[in-house]
Amino acid sequence: MYRTHNCGELRKSDINSKVKLSGWVQRIRNKGFLIWIDLRDRYGITQLFINSENVSDDVIKTTKLLGREFVISIDGKVIEREAYNNKIATGEIEISVDSIEILNKSEIPPFTIEDESDGGDELRMKYRYLDLRRNPIKNNLIFRNDLSFEIRKYLKDNGFIDIETPYLIKSTPEGARDFVVPSRINLGEFYALPQSPQTFKQLLMISGFDKYFQIVKCFRDEDLRADRQPEFTQIDCEMSFVNQDDVISTFEGLIKYLFKNCLNINLKDFKKISYGEAIEKYGTDKPDTRFEMDFFNLSEKAKGTGFKIFDESEAIYGFNVKSGAELSRKEIDSYVDWVKRPQIGALGLIWIKHNMDGSIKSSIDKFFDADQLKNLTNSSPGDISFIISGNKKKTLTQLGALRIEVAERFGLRNNKEFEAIWVTDFPLFEWDEESKSYHSMHHPFTSPVDGVINKDPSKTFANAYDLVINGNEIGGGSIRIHNKELQQKVFSILGFSEKEADDQFGFLLNAFKYGAPPHGGIAFGLDRLVAVMNNDETIRDYIAFPKNNSGRDVMIDSPSKIDNQQLDDLNIKLN
Ligand code: AMO
Repeated sequence: MYRTHNCGELRKSDINSKVKLSGWVQRIRNKGFLIWIDLRDRYGITQLFINSENVSDDVIKTTKLLGREFVISIDGKVIEREAYNNKIATGEIEISVDSIEILNKSEIPPFTIEDESDGGDELRMKYRYLDLRRNPIKNNLIFRNDLSFEIRKYLKDNGFIDIETPYLIKSTPEGARDFVVPSRINLGEFYALPQSPQTFKQLLMISGFDKYFQIVKCFRDEDLRADRQPEFTQIDCEMSFVNQDDVISTFEGLIKYLFKNCLNINLKDFKKISYGEAIEKYGTDKPDTRFEMDFFNLSEKAKGTGFKIFDESEAIYGFNVKSGAELSRKEIDSYVDWVKRPQIGALGLIWIKHNMDGSIKSSIDKFFDADQLKNLTNSSPGDISFIISGNKKKTLTQLGALRIEVAERFGLRNNKEFEAIWVTDFPLFEWDEESKSYHSMHHPFTSPVDGVINKDPSKTFANAYDLVINGNEIGGGSIRIHNKELQQKVFSILGFSEKEADDQFGFLLNAFKYGAPPHGGIAFGLDRLVAVMNNDETIRDYIAFPKNNSGRDVMIDSPSKIDNQQLDDLNIKLN
């Protein structure tokens, strides 16, 4: 037997019990003949106490060999500590050690295995199994486990069935590139890893399963960001005989249930905001609505005054920042520089300070007098207004990014408040200037509102909805097309010839011929949901073995070359 208890469970009530514990040596403190060891396992830390004058020579000898991260097993008696440590659950007791056994040695770990580690990112990823011993990361995974359990519980209680779908499939156009897998048995042919189980869950509706879900890995070969991994997990769901309100109410229920059961937070009812309004007011389709700084539109109002920058701009938008008038010139300049960085790409940033005494200071006060500027921005004393002008789409996006940056710097984003909203009324198609073609805003299986496509495809709205929490896109879904002709029409607008559509999606078009029920669904990014519930926007530390920013797993060193025999078997020649 290795243990009678774990390292997190002994309390004052256990005093005088004989116990056996096993775990890792976190720290050793040696004060002459008195030695303390912090013994750690998944459940916590228990302090071991060795009085060299009262223990056998064996214990002393073994203790001298110990180092950080050695795995040991000890026998001893629970005693009361002289000084309590209220930072840990076992802080009132310690174990007076009678015998000690080394189960395994450890080299000195490459970084300290404590809450605040001295390990840099790359090192932590290389030794991720050690990183996972640290409380913050370990607790993230435990939270994720609890969340997954509650997801399954809610969905099962609501009649959803968990059905697995294949990982070796055929390409589905979800917007990103596919990861492909060569087939040895079918030389020259490739599987694709699913970007999502989209078409399979629709087929399951046609099979009559009515309510499906799956907590499922998805794979997308796209540029990585803090909230993106090449393989990530979706809570993927689909329902039959539903309209948008049915789906929204079922899944608003799920999200509220998860916040209540995992964080004891009661979320307010989710507001709905249309895509058009979100872009016009916040410059993004995933607005953080916990603070104001709504945009004002000066595109008409500020033109025709002879100020060239405004007169020549397609659009002029801005927002007011409360208490912004307190910003120093240096701080303002740092915002100006921030929007000019290539990632944001604005040509400049116009600012208007409305001081508490009513006076105005502005980067454009040579061109406008104080009253004109107050009138333009409708600001209050104490505000600063930021304005960007230029191409409409770019201006809105740039200003949207600035709004978030301002909120970050003003500390408006790290409070523990949560606001979930639905974004609806997306356009069905998006015109892409580069390829001179329409793209699906969500995916090609999304139904247009009322099942009708406008003569001008760009004016067609989608029966789609996104869930946004604190400015993060957590989920997206739609009512689907369930009719062959409509689906073919969408493919043709997207530029597929009849043959191409048939080659790629013949299975789905065919299935629509055999009584496809009306259906719709949604998928949530589980990694993102876990991170956002923990007030984080970076998903990496909520995944046990994530990839780095270049899509590498530096621990197992993947991707890696494969040997010639493997290539030959697959009939692949590298270029
Ligand atoms: P969508 O592409 O919007 O929809 O994906 C759903 C949710 O998955 C999460 N997500 C990601 N998370 C981490 N890394 C990524 N690379 C990544 N990509 C997406 C996001 C996103 O909201 N089949 C449809 C859903 C449907 O229509 O039912 C789909 O996959 O949180």
